[in-house]
Amino acid sequence: MEKTRLAVIGLGNMGAPHCRDIANLDCAELTAVCDIDGEKSKETAALYGCRSFTSAEELLDSGLAEGVILAMPHYGHTTAALQAFARGIHVLTEKPVGVHVKDIRKMITAWEEGKKKKSDLVFSAMFQQRTRGAARKIKDLIDSGELGRLIRTTWIITDWYRTQAYYNSGGWRATWAGEGGGVLINQCPHQLDMYQWFTGCPSRVTGFASFGKYHDIEVEDEVTAYFEHENGMVGQFITSTGEAPGTNRLEIVGENGKLVWEDDKLSFQRNRVSLLDHLKNSDQGFEKPENWSCTVPFLSEGGEHRIIIENFCDAITGRAGLIADASEGLNSIAIDNAIRLSSLEGRTVEIPFDEDAYETRLKELIAGSAR
Ligand SMILES: NC(=O)c1ccc[n+]([C@@H]2O[C@H](COP(=O)([O-])OP(=O)(O)OC[C@H]3O[C@@H](n4cnc5c(N)ncnc54)[C@H](O)[C@@H]3O)[C@@H](O)[C@H]2O)c1
Repeated sequence: MEKTRLAVIGLGNMGAPHCRDIANLDCAELTAVCDIDGEKSKETAALYGCRSFTSAEELLDSGLAEGVILAMPHYGHTTAALQAFARGIHVLTEKPVGVHVKDIRKMITAWEEGKKKKSDLVFSAMFQQRTRGAARKIKDLIDSGELGRLIRTTWIITDWYRTQAYYNSGGWRATWAGEGGGVLINQCPHQLDMYQWFTGCPSRVTGFASFGKYHDIEVEDEVTAYFEHENGMVGQFITSTGEAPGTNRLEIVGENGKLVWEDDKLSFQRNRVSLLDHLKNSDQGFEKPENWSCTVPFLSEGGEHRIIIENFCDAITGRAGLIADASEGLNSIAIDNAIRLSSLEGRTVEIPFDEDAYETRLKELIAGSAR
């Protein structure tokens, strides 16, 4: 099989395993790596027998890479993606795709511009949790109409417990200038992505975020948000890094029943008749629709990051469509930004919101940062 020449930029916790995954793939070859830490870059390059860089731009100019994986801190994704697309280089970016909506729009515009010269230019995102068997099954059940009209989606994802020592360990973490947010943008991009992938983007968001409630940090470490969707569905999203043992439970209620994903099990209580029909037509005041409980089977594959990298190669060579098109990152970041904006301003925020105003807010937070 012809190997796609890939490079990795940012060689930390995530970039290092991405290099290892590429080295183990039949469809890819690691041709270059880059980190602003020159030692790290040299050591990684020596390990894989590829070229080392300390400047992303020099790597992109070298002609060594057809595609690049961006695994540096958040704000760097936008800068490097713009540079890559200007050179006709395919991009697979780590989550979050960008820190705020305007940055992602810039990336999409650069991608569209790049496609004028190279029509098959690929823009993918490392939303590897979409490859989980349960996630694919939930998507399938919703898209095939098994749940009927959606009524409510609630995600409680409070098992992101982190200690103060965690926050003290990394210079860019938990700061407005380094990360652009807290638990929503660091830990929750996968859940926010899957929320919008399963049910679509809400049109109104009311957020209650607490900034540095449990930790000595400036960004949010506890969030409760309420979502309203155009189709009438309501949603709740609850997250925290200050709760233990914590919960990871997704409930999706449709007119045909309730789907619950928890502890790697998918259970479905199926209504015999649509609850919407039943509540209109039943002549009984308290009777619920009859329902049956079942466990929904799904296949678990493992190797989620590797699957996304392999899919990136397959999309570049035209063998497959993308599992996670990075332009869809706009939706999860719109939700992220809207929750924060709503919390900061104490009001409900409509999506789309004033994106310039959000960027200005973020710049003020960065300017006012004591860190
Ligand atoms: N998909 C996932 O499951 C997952 C998990 C963890 C982290 N991440 C994401 O991966 C990215 C990196 O996180 P991490 O935990 O590996 O961080 P890290 O701090 O461990 O590593 C970041 C690396 O990038 C380097 N770097 C910084 N700026 C650079 C630049 N301009 N050019 C080249 N290198 C640069 C740093 O020197 C460091 O080695 C983040 O976006 C994070 O959200 C994704």
